[in-house]
Amino acid sequence: MLVSAKEMLTKAKAGKYAVGQFNINNLEWTKSILLTAEELKSPVILGVSEGAGKYMCGYKTVVGMVNGMLEELGITVPVALHLDHGSYEGAKACIEAGFSSIMFDGSHYPIEENVAKTKELVAICEEKGMSIEAEVGSIGGEEDGVVGAGECADPEECKMIADLGVTMLAAGIGNIHGKYPENWAGLSFETLDAVQKLTGDMPLVLHGGTGIPEDMIKKAISLGVSKINVNTECQLSFADATRKYIEAGKDQEGKGFDPRKLLAPGADAIKATVKEKMELFGSVGKA
Ligand code: 13P
Repeated sequence: MLVSAKEMLTKAKAGKYAVGQFNINNLEWTKSILLTAEELKSPVILGVSEGAGKYMCGYKTVVGMVNGMLEELGITVPVALHLDHGSYEGAKACIEAGFSSIMFDGSHYPIEENVAKTKELVAICEEKGMSIEAEVGSIGGEEDGVVGAGECADPEECKMIADLGVTMLAAGIGNIHGKYPENWAGLSFETLDAVQKLTGDMPLVLHGGTGIPEDMIKKAISLGVSKINVNTECQLSFADATRKYIEAGKDQEGKGFDPRKLLAPGADAIKATVKEKMELFGSVGKA
């Protein structure tokens, strides 16, 4: 059964480790992530962007697929199905469809409007026992065609949003989605420290988990980050393994590639990436 992310993140914050949010794009990715979490006895969050939700035939299809897998694969570790960077409408659709967690990304609204919309969604999630993530300060880079500048959040605004009763808070600390540029200034630990001081026990979320050096990840966890989002790294390992398989020409004597065999190396590559991240984040054995 899908669970809210609240309990796993409260434990992570107290235990000074982080739970990985791995974004899913298809059946193979989802299966790889769930099997790895089960093998490593780690809690896990499956992230679904609005674009990926559309691609996978809508939120109800995603909920059906994930619930089916939890049962058929005999998954016993805590799994949350979470909308990533949801719009107000998308958040409502996922609540309706049976997700167990949502992110409402109101960072592009004026703070008053972000507060009003977040408040409304917090009340709905509370009633349904779901977790809700809010964002302050935009995360840079491109996601689903939306480009943000990677600004640092205002700690006072973070406190204002945290006080609305959200489960977890994504604060921009110079992190960006996708690969980091050569001249990237690094994470602003000063901002993170200030945010954590003002928000206390609130689990903090680090987006853009791909390509952040290990020492920075560890320092971020020590300063209150208890959820780390990873997407691009899984995409890169999946694409690389698939390309290598095709280049090796393992088709069936001119009959083309067996679709199951074609996607197997990519699925294995995702397992390896997820394992590496769970070990780095310290969530192994914490289920
Ligand atoms: P990356 O694509 O940089 O790993 O970021 C993922 C993310 O933050 C999803 O919200």
